[in-house]
Amino acid sequence: SQAEPASLVREGGVEVGIKAFHDEGVYREELEKIFAKCWLFLGHETQLRRPGDYLSTRMGEDEVVVTRTKDGRLRAFLNSCRHRGPKLCRADQGNSQALRCPYHGWTYDLDGNLVGVPRLRTAYHGEFDRSAVKLIEVARLDTVHGLIFATWDPDAPTLAEYLGDFLPYLDLMLGRSEAGFEAVGGVHKWTIETNWKIPAENFSGDQYHLSSTHASSVEVGLRNRVTEYGHTIHVEGGHGFTREKGGAQQGTAAVTAYTEHVRRVQDGLRDRSPELAEFVPLGVGSIFPNLSFMDGMRFLTLRQWQPRGPHRIDVNSWCLVDSALSDELKDAAMRQYVLSFGPSGMFEQDDGEIWTSISEATRGVVAQRHSFDYTMGVGHEVAVKDHTGVDLPGVMGEAFITEGNQRSFYRRWRQLMEK
Ligand code: FES
Ligand code: FE
Repeated sequence: SQAEPASLVREGGVEVGIKAFHDEGVYREELEKIFAKCWLFLGHETQLRRPGDYLSTRMGEDEVVVTRTKDGRLRAFLNSCRHRGPKLCRADQGNSQALRCPYHGWTYDLDGNLVGVPRLRTAYHGEFDRSAVKLIEVARLDTVHGLIFATWDPDAPTLAEYLGDFLPYLDLMLGRSEAGFEAVGGVHKWTIETNWKIPAENFSGDQYHLSSTHASSVEVGLRNRVTEYGHTIHVEGGHGFTREKGGAQQGTAAVTAYTEHVRRVQDGLRDRSPELAEFVPLGVGSIFPNLSFMDGMRFLTLRQWQPRGPHRIDVNSWCLVDSALSDELKDAAMRQYVLSFGPSGMFEQDDGEIWTSISEATRGVVAQRHSFDYTMGVGHEVAVKDHTGVDLPGVMGEAFITEGNQRSFYRRWRQLMEK
């Protein structure tokens, strides 16, 4: 029933009612209990290098503008004028001294203060208190390895607490370069007719789909043969990832100069710790609720599944590169990214078609009486430390192919929806 969306996920996350992917009431509650509560990704710091830089994005369905203020701080506000509400900032990103409303011309500075009101004296008779009006700001904003996150919940844990045991893995992915990573080529945006949880759970650890969905990509050499070796790991909080041994994801078949670079990073790490070197590149994963990544031998991409109703997402996608790389190497990574995982990339097409088909084939009333099974690998989960000998947190499947990460994702979903 609509009253209890949390009950759509069975204990342990072993079964999920199909209604969870369609019901308007469930979706409204997700916006309240997940997207207005969790730490959400806003963009990469290198998109906002100079004072006055801004970008627009969304948190759930709320329009948001992120600014780099005069004193170099990052702030994020609802991208909506306090007078009658239109978008203040209509460009995806840019640089400006102020945000001016197109409707009646109210102007805000990049700290969210209302600094200009046309006809203040004549029409408002000088009786309107400008200083009482401010843009609505997120409760908290923080960054980790250049990733900007924010939350609307003043009682939220810190970002570090929210990421919890996933932090050591994030360190391996984005902390492995002293120069840091930067976003190149702008943000790619497109739309997929599906529910946001479908791609999020897929990226969190669906190794099972590779040999079927992406069979043609193997044929054309965009990825290696699907292996049976690797790790599928999740931590508390619904975050998880999966990596093929040797970082084979998305192929060493098409070796580029960037691939050689990643091999050098692996070699450098191997001297310090052979086990840790196995975790570079990190693989494919999801940070709850809607940020996913793919860190492979040919490129690193971040993508966000922005909910637009139960049956639609806007995808935002970034290509990140090690800032220490030459322009030539950055370019090589960028090109491989576009070829396989950009909006028209091979992999993206394969997945997008299936995800749309899921939403279409299960949206009827009869389909929604049923549920999906997530029992693969139940009872076959072990501590990462015990299984790999590496001192890393989390739990992994005894077998590489498991639905342990998806269960963890839906347990987190259920926990938040119960509140
Ligand atoms: Fe923005 Fe009136 S709606 S100034
Ligand atoms: Fe896929």
